[in-house]
Amino acid sequence: MNRFLKDKEHLFRMAALFAAGAVLFLIVRAVLVPKGFGVYGHYRAGALADNRMRTPHFAGRAACIECHTDERDALKGGKHAGVGCEACHGALAKHAGDPSASKPVKPDARTICFTCHLANVAKPKKFPQMDPKSHFDGGACNGCHSPHAPDKEPKK
Ligand code: HEC
Ligand code: HEC
Ligand code: HEC
Ligand code: HEC
Repeated sequence: MNRFLKDKEHLFRMAALFAAGAVLFLIVRAVLVPKGFGVYGHYRAGALADNRMRTPHFAGRAACIECHTDERDALKGGKHAGVGCEACHGALAKHAGDPSASKPVKPDARTICFTCHLANVAKPKKFPQMDPKSHFDGGACNGCHSPHAPDKEPKK
């Protein structure tokens, strides 16, 4: 007998171990990989349907201005024309779906503006920023800026 195969049992044991490992891998893989995985690429196809089932929290500007035409007109042509209603008012799909069921709280005109305008060196230079210490002596921003048309006079 070939002297290389004289003590061959350990090779068979090794091969059997590998085979068992491979089978185990295939079983675990079959159990763990969800149905539909790979249909559209490296994710579960059913995730699309699952996401569609979730209730949206944002209604979108188009929905808001169907009812709030005054605000639509106020934003038009002003510097906030491109800012979404819900960027300031928060997600309001529930209110938009049934205004009588949930009345939104008005955003606080002392704090909401800071989320975007508080001066910060990390912000692009051309984005309008303000340092409250030097900008004004307290009070609310809407004393001088209308939130919906901040570059125009506030509506009193
Ligand atoms: C179907 C019509 C409708 C839609 C759509 C709608 N609203 Fe309203 N909204 C109303 C009505 C009616 C009121 C007044 C509710 C009350 O006084 O009880 C109101 C009240 C508000 C108020 C409070 C006003 C106040 O004086 O306190 C805010 C803020 C507001 N809406 C923002 C929004 C935003 C932002 C959206 C879009 C996400 C939106 N609304 C979508 C009808 C609508
Ligand atoms: C830059 C932030 C901002 C954006 C964008 C914005 N709002 Fe407002 N909105 C405010 C603030 C702040 C108030 C509260 C003003 C106050 O207390 O006098 C307010 C008040 C309101 C009110 C109550 C009525 C009033 O004038 O006090 C309604 C209704 C409203 N917003 C709807 C909208 C709709 C609809 C849009 C989008 C078309 C929108 N807002 C976009 C900040 C914003
Ligand atoms: C979600 C972000 C956001 C919030 C919140 C926000 N703004 Fe703005 N604001 C903007 C953007 C975007 C512009 C337009 C910037 C541009 O034209 O380059 C702007 C422009 C302005 C300008 C005009 C600056 C100029 O160049 O003339 C003023 C004033 C202003 N905002 C005040 C306010 C006030 C007051 C509030 C609070 C009621 C507020 N903003 C809340 C995003 C925001
Ligand atoms: C006492 C009145 C007053 C108050 C209160 C006030 N502002 Fe202003 N703000 C002004 C005036 C006037 C200008 C225009 C001055 C200029 O162009 O330099 C201005 C300009 C701005 C600009 C544009 C700055 C730029 O460099 O383009 C921003 C952003 C702004 N304000 C945000 C705010 C915010 C946010 C608040 C509340 C924290 C606030 N303002 C409160 C009077 C006020």
